[in-house]
Amino acid sequence: MKAILPKERYSQAGPISPVVMVTSVDANMRPNIITLGMYMPISHDPPQVIIGVSPRRYSHDLIRDQGEFVVNSPGINLAKKMHICGVKSGRDTDKFRESGLTPKLAQKVRPPLIDECYGHLECEVVNMVTCGDHTLFVGEIVAASIDDDCLKEGKLNLSAARPIAQKNWDYHTLSDL
Ligand SMILES: Cc1cc2nc3c(=O)[nH]c(=O)nc-3n(C[C@H](O)[C@H](O)[C@H](O)COP(=O)(O)O)c2cc1C
Repeated sequence: MKAILPKERYSQAGPISPVVMVTSVDANMRPNIITLGMYMPISHDPPQVIIGVSPRRYSHDLIRDQGEFVVNSPGINLAKKMHICGVKSGRDTDKFRESGLTPKLAQKVRPPLIDECYGHLECEVVNMVTCGDHTLFVGEIVAASIDDDCLKEGKLNLSAARPIAQKNWDYHTLSDL
């Protein structure tokens, strides 16, 4: 038997999503953090990723106007801090202060890295597409860095990084087969 889903439950039939924490800055270099499930790598050469951001989010206009963002990858140890960044708005909250996370100078863009995250993709916005009620920002990766203890033979070691997977704000990490 298959349960037929109503429109408001369609997403339940899709896979889990990753969780990323995207940093941006305003015109005065004040940084913000937004938690996103809508993240996907989209091109290898040039290296590009997409993020889906609702125009209702404070981060939306920062990313659009400043043209830069950083995709920070959190481990499951950051679940509580990540959730705070997904329920509070930078309009009225300094999320670095509220979460206790540490901003770190990026190599090539103005938004800071989140030091506690294991991986960082520094992106310049090269395209924007409105998709229904979200905007897809296409970011070209201009620099990347990763905690060296999460690398094994030059590749991401999932057992060390312990990335977050989520559905309906239910957070898990992965186990090997
Ligand atoms: C697990 C999780 C995933 C989320 N995914 C998205 C997303 O993909 N796109 C989006 O626009 N908002 C998403 N949100 C909501 C924003 O993170 C939230 O509205 C945030 O408070 C906006 O912050 P800002 O106003 O400072 O930009 C998500 C929230 C959580 C907790």
